[in-house]
Amino acid sequence: MQSFFQSLFGKKAPKQLRILPQDVTIDLTPGQTLLEAALANGIAYPHDCTVGTCASCKTRLKQGRVREATPFGYTLSKAELDAGYILACQAVPRDELTVIEIDPLLAELPPVEQFAARIVATEQLTHDILKVTVQADRPVHYVAGQYANLRVPGAARYRSYSFANAPQRKGRSTLDFYIRKVPGGEFTEALFRGELDDEPMEMEAPHGTFHLHGGDAPMMCIAGGSGLAPLVSILEHARANRIKRDCTLLFGARTQGDLYQLEVISNIAANWQGEFRFIPVLSHEPECSSWAGARGLVTEHIPAGFCEGAEGYLCGPPPMIDAAIARLAEHAIPLERVFYDKFTDGRNP
Ligand code: FES
Repeated sequence: MQSFFQSLFGKKAPKQLRILPQDVTIDLTPGQTLLEAALANGIAYPHDCTVGTCASCKTRLKQGRVREATPFGYTLSKAELDAGYILACQAVPRDELTVIEIDPLLAELPPVEQFAARIVATEQLTHDILKVTVQADRPVHYVAGQYANLRVPGAARYRSYSFANAPQRKGRSTLDFYIRKVPGGEFTEALFRGELDDEPMEMEAPHGTFHLHGGDAPMMCIAGGSGLAPLVSILEHARANRIKRDCTLLFGARTQGDLYQLEVISNIAANWQGEFRFIPVLSHEPECSSWAGARGLVTEHIPAGFCEGAEGYLCGPPPMIDAAIARLAEHAIPLERVFYDKFTDGRNP
């Protein structure tokens, strides 16, 4: 019946996608996801995995309904879903017009490139976290908070690791990553045995949308485990650029032996423009130990009274991020002012 009327009245107009704040409108082909449509039209849309696991393409839906190719709820929290966020790589428009909004800075992120690289140094930071220094064949341009995908040449899949250094204006060729050992993980087991030292690597970078937002709002940074890396990158970048903002850094670890890069944090604190507070929190430190600092879950130690107008910067495993988002909301920091990098299975397998 539809084709009969279409033959009578001409071809049906294609569905359209409008992207804000750029205010670009494009036509969609049937079955196309929002991400596919944007990329097909030459729009530099943030993405990485394209299968709904990394959250790089997280977008706010302003108008229209979409079908979920795979459920957004695997990767996005309930708070994000309630706030209207979707995954562009898994969203197929259902209405004639779909309107979405992305962070304008995301369209200006450096383009993803392929690099030849080599592991030039490793340093054991804790029993299961290694600082890995990689030399790229040319300078890598990235924004503090972003990550790279690394693999041994010929390996089936990449592993994703956040840059732990501040970026440099002309790009940076020597790059540090904090890599956690995954029991049974082929790549990290080989790394910890030293079998990849001085070995060639393939690197794809930069990826991710986690970054420092402008303004002078106080920063509430919360890191868990190897999630310290992108926050060190952001804080080093802010310190080097003499950005003046009050900052609290909460660092969650299991025991004293799992705390690392304390000297790096201490250097950032010593040269910070504004107030800087560092609160390490241990969840599994023996009761009888000498530790006199905070204990329990890192998300339970957000200082009261700090949060007026603050922004949250979070990095770590999904349960920590979800708990932190809920706690920050209780402290009057809404989701719109919380930025994070969630280490989902698609990020750090
Ligand atoms: S690109 Fe959409 S979730 Fe990874």
